[in-house]
Amino acid sequence: MAESSDQMFIAQISDTHILAPDSDHPAAQRRADNLRRCVADINRQRPDAVIFTGDTVQFGQPEEYDHLRALLTPLDAPLYLTPGNRDDKDALRAAFGDQPYLPRNGDLLHYTVEGHALRLVAIDSTLRGERKGVFCRIRQNWLDAALKDRPDRPTLLFIHHPPFDIDDHYVGGYRQPEDAAALAEVVHRHPQVVRLLCGHVHTLTERPWAGTRASVMPSIAVDVRRDDGGTEAGDQPVYMWHRLSQKGDLVSQSRTVDATQ
Ligand SMILES: [Fe+2]
Repeated sequence: MAESSDQMFIAQISDTHILAPDSDHPAAQRRADNLRRCVADINRQRPDAVIFTGDTVQFGQPEEYDHLRALLTPLDAPLYLTPGNRDDKDALRAAFGDQPYLPRNGDLLHYTVEGHALRLVAIDSTLRGERKGVFCRIRQNWLDAALKDRPDRPTLLFIHHPPFDIDDHYVGGYRQPEDAAALAEVVHRHPQVVRLLCGHVHTLTERPWAGTRASVMPSIAVDVRRDDGGTEAGDQPVYMWHRLSQKGDLVSQSRTVDATQ
């Protein structure tokens, strides 16, 4: 639950890899249950916003998005989606087209959100048919302009693909190494950025990056999580809390939804 000392309280969910309700995939029901339990717990905690860092469904199919939509509908807080490499942006937009922040046209699902203590900026690192991240010149220019627009506002960025290597299990995550370097260069120019939130790697890490900090969260889908995702969660679903203190520090912790919830 948001504490009185918080300026803003954010829940992050990621990598749910939801399947169609009638899928015969052995993890289909479990993944839905993992997300359902996280949504119920998030509602109990009453965050100001929920950020979803991609790979929402497994195969990009419309029936998967219908299922995802049904699982997310109970969320009380505003939900901000960004795609992962598993997502089909047309199908995602069809299922969530009523979300006012999602661009109605164009290939890129990037946007800014005003009205919270932190300005939110979603970056789209996906390209159809490409598993790795992309941060082309168009995206570079868009992000630079978006950040130039409000240099006075503390800003939280979120994206699917981390633009840095993680140990030896995530190396060269961008199609072109210069794309990841360009993302760091853009962010370096804008000191109002307090954090970059990422998904994709299904594990937990946080580190200095581009003059700010970057973090990666475990998958909510327990069957694709790496070990315990760096948490003490065992086989329970995990999501993230990010609290902005009155002093302006963004403090993060993993939240395990235990079997009684
Ligand atoms: Fe991914």
